[in-house]
Amino acid sequence: MLQIKQHFNLKPYNTFGIEALCTYFTEIYSETDFLELIQNTIYKTNQKLILGGGSNILFTKNFDGIVIKNNLKGISVISQTQTEVIVKANAGEVWHDLVLWCISNNYCGLENLSLIPGCVGASPMQNIGAYGVEIKDVFYELEAFDVETGDKRSFNLLECKFGYRESVFKNEFKNKYLIASVSFKLKKQAHLNTTYGAINTELEHMKITNPSIKDVSNAVISIRESKLPNPKNMGNAGSFFKNPEVTESIYLNLKLKYPNLVAYLLDNGNYKLAAGWLIEQCDLKGFAHNGAAVHTKQALVLINKNNCTGDDVYQLSTYVLQKVFNTFGVTLEREVNII
Ligand code: FAD
Ligand code: EPU
Repeated sequence: MLQIKQHFNLKPYNTFGIEALCTYFTEIYSETDFLELIQNTIYKTNQKLILGGGSNILFTKNFDGIVIKNNLKGISVISQTQTEVIVKANAGEVWHDLVLWCISNNYCGLENLSLIPGCVGASPMQNIGAYGVEIKDVFYELEAFDVETGDKRSFNLLECKFGYRESVFKNEFKNKYLIASVSFKLKKQAHLNTTYGAINTELEHMKITNPSIKDVSNAVISIRESKLPNPKNMGNAGSFFKNPEVTESIYLNLKLKYPNLVAYLLDNGNYKLAAGWLIEQCDLKGFAHNGAAVHTKQALVLINKNNCTGDDVYQLSTYVLQKVFNTFGVTLEREVNII
């Protein structure tokens, strides 16, 4: 039975641990729940926000509308050949649980994305990525409901328009669809991707010469735990900014001035700069604004150090943006969804 709560505190529902109220809050456990919800007058007459694990969202104010927490569960194999398998996961599954489920079945493809917080339904939103893999590399299709009409449709790889931390759902279809399930095309034999330098270093450190899928996952988990703050202990939403892309000529000018600049050549001839490095060079590691701060171990992560508000984090991010621009002439873009 669908329950709609009023004046609901979202603090436990966002990994920044920010206090913010929403006017209405409901949780859906099945597609039937959603179809029932869209008939409801409160739903029809209010702004809507779909929430997964709240790990890529910053509430800078109360949300005057209805928050729909997606709890659609279930993981299944929908088809397979001798070498490949299509795994479908419903949107409310915890991302890392899906990764572990795949590893336990010896399905290869998601292991580099181990331990990314949040739910499956949000994974296509920004085409989550880590350690040399993005979901677009293993994506098969997704199913989504039109939030106004309740009509269900599927999106294939091209229709999702995935890019670096981008998709159609962050752009022209922003707030238009509730993602209900995502399917991935995985390999039945290990095709490991250890191109990301840190993974090999970690495997060597673990004294593993012939890694399994599980070993790669463990290596990724170990790297992540050493760098990224656990939201249970310190509120954060991972990288607050994207790594900026610049042209070759901008890159060469910067490299002349800053020989230690950290950058990666992209297929299109542009360069991606390590935003964490840029922020660190501005001497901002540990810099605090009220209770919000730049993380001391990873400058790309902003943290809720001491009971800060969402606005404190936002103002801190503006300060970081300005400092980086004044120093390097490079404009950072926020990765986190700002409400
Ligand atoms: P939420 O924060 O709940 O939502 C994010 C956005 O998606 C919102 O706009 C929301 O409205 C929308 N949304 C959520 N669910 C649905 C749905 N079912 N249908 C339609 N819209 C929906 N990200 C990476 O890419 N790589 C990383 O390595 C990484 N590391 C992180 C490390 C830490 C410590 C933290 C805290 C975050 C990290 N992130 C990373 C960011 C975050 O984990 C991902 O963006 C994740 O996919 C967000 O999932 P969520 O369920 O928490 O989404
Ligand atoms: N660096 C610094 N100082 C810092 C932080 C980083 O000099 O304070 C340098 C590092 O030394 C390294 C480079 O910057 O040479 C890159 O750092 P790191 O490997 O930690 O990765 P990142 O670019 O900061 C990105 C993603 C992460 C993802 C990791 C691993 C973005 C915005 N962030 O971080 O994703 O987990 O690579 O693939 O692309 C997220 O999106 O929330 C997220 C955590």
